[in-house]
Amino acid sequence: MTNIKGKFIVFEGIDGSGISTQTGRLRSYLESQYNIKTILAKEPSEGPVGTLIRQVLSGRMQGIDDSSLALLFAADRIDHNKNKILPVLEQGDFVICDRYLWSSYAYQGRKNDLNWLQEINMYASKPDLTVFIRVRPEISIRRITGSRFQTEIFEKIDILQQVYDNYVCLFAKWKESGLSVTEIDGERDADTVEMEIRTAIEKHFIK
Ligand code: TYD
Repeated sequence: MTNIKGKFIVFEGIDGSGISTQTGRLRSYLESQYNIKTILAKEPSEGPVGTLIRQVLSGRMQGIDDSSLALLFAADRIDHNKNKILPVLEQGDFVICDRYLWSSYAYQGRKNDLNWLQEINMYASKPDLTVFIRVRPEISIRRITGSRFQTEIFEKIDILQQVYDNYVCLFAKWKESGLSVTEIDGERDADTVEMEIRTAIEKHFIK
């Protein structure tokens, strides 16, 4: 991790919290306003392990046990770090990642011990800032069912409620321990959320 000059920004939140919309908008803003070269990344990644995970998430591949899925996410993350994230950071550019470590803690944390999850993810590089877009499950599920025909295995209100509770609890803990995290109220319209994210990023990296 020496010679890293770029910045690594991660977005987190439950399904339907608007992460994909906001990562795209932030990238355009950083490039047009500050001329910062930025790439978008996403987990599960487009690599071989990520492709396997997507089959599980869609329900096409069934019967995988919860700990094995947690290991697959961790394996995908190491692969993703090596093949995509680190080379970009080493070049001095920005990476904006749609989900990362904390997705594993919040989602896989429903069925796995947090210490074990941290252990299997110990080789993943740490983000410079994690942006938590906070949206309650009753709001996010309405967005998901209103915009898509097919849903994935975690997109159910009771599961999302547990994931949400995990996120809220973890973020409170990390904030207290001085980690670089910021929380945005994602229940407002996309333009307002975007403005607030810009302010947070500028405060953190630009001035
Ligand atoms: P999502 O990010 O919504 O992508 P898409 O819109 O392309 O389907 O879906 C990824 C799902 O994977 C989401 O439900 C969260 C889950 N996930 C985990 O459970 N653990 C992880 O470590 C990651 C990265 C994602």
